[in-house]
Amino acid sequence: MIDIIDVSKKFTTADGEVTALNNINLHIDDGDIFGIIGLSGAGKSTLLRCINRLEDVTDGSILINGIDITKLNKSSLRETRKKIGMIFQHFNLLMNSTVYENIAFPLKISSISDQDIKKRVTELLEVVELTDKKDAYPSQLSGGQKQRVGIARALANNPDIILSDEATSALDPTTTESILKLLKNINKEYGITIIVVTHEMSVIKDLCDKVAVIENNVVVEQGRVIDLFSNPKTKTSKRFLKDTVAKLPEGILVNDNNPNEAIVRVSFLGEDANKPFISQMVKKFDVDANIITGNIENIQHMQVGSLIIKITGSKENVASALDYLERRNLKIEVMKNDNI
Ligand SMILES: Nc1ncnc2c1ncn2[C@@H]1O[C@H](COP(=O)(O)OP(=O)(O)OP(=O)(O)O)[C@@H](O)[C@H]1O
Ligand SMILES: [Mg+2]
Repeated sequence: MIDIIDVSKKFTTADGEVTALNNINLHIDDGDIFGIIGLSGAGKSTLLRCINRLEDVTDGSILINGIDITKLNKSSLRETRKKIGMIFQHFNLLMNSTVYENIAFPLKISSISDQDIKKRVTELLEVVELTDKKDAYPSQLSGGQKQRVGIARALANNPDIILSDEATSALDPTTTESILKLLKNINKEYGITIIVVTHEMSVIKDLCDKVAVIENNVVVEQGRVIDLFSNPKTKTSKRFLKDTVAKLPEGILVNDNNPNEAIVRVSFLGEDANKPFISQMVKKFDVDANIITGNIENIQHMQVGSLIIKITGSKENVASALDYLERRNLKIEVMKNDNI
């Protein structure tokens, strides 16, 4: 369990003081895959670096299983850090060492016997599917393979927590997918808590259970990923979700003065997605409904999405159909020329 309590971080620079984190409060449960998303400069990396004390907080405390790591002395901190693995956007591998040596590195500094190191590295090479590359150097690997080495190295000391700072930002979409799958498996198999910093909503959607949105160094929204997707509250999350909301294609005009037609955006979550609300509406109110466009995503086995529908019929029937939709557990927006 990680509790981040009233954490602030200020840097002193030649140009004065820079606030990187402003009174951050987060609770992360054991076994969570917890996402932190925000725009560049929001403070994501700084927050992650405070969790393993690569940075010291200016104010507040960070409790890991009840122990305030901001107060640990050097030797206790060294022990705690062994239980926190970290992976990076640019992998941070030792370029003059082989894959095997890179993974063995954190074990060597933990003064573990050569025999035990060999056993552990062999296991880890299997976990990340790089057994055949054990003698290769990082320069001979693809980006995805390098990140697999980074992940194996982070796992070496059997951590309880993995911190991931933009681990897939330098990778193509297919490689990203395979790395996210690996992280998901690691979380499931070993119960490791994973904190994922990213600026990509797709990473949050595909990997995380919970999410915090950071805007201007403050947490502005946090909760279940599914709730964020179905009901984003802040400017930042709406901006990140922009591409997942169905938009009216260019060339389709909304005539919001014509009572015989209405164009509506229907957003839904979970089981609503499977209810035949359109066909029921058509039958009940003798209207026509054309689906103009739509976008449905699967998030943690739930469907979240939106459809844009054009409803046509008599003035009364169109009004009744809209009323019917509004009374269901669906979010309805009647599109006007100003909300396209
Ligand atoms: N060592 C430092 N010295 C001075 N200012 C810093 C330092 N590290 C970070 N900052 C400042 O703190 C703020 C937050 O930076 P941080 O790197 O945490 O952002 P981020 O959300 O990770 O951004 P990005 O998405 O670009 O990686 C920024 O204004 C940054 O300039
Ligand atoms: Mg960063």
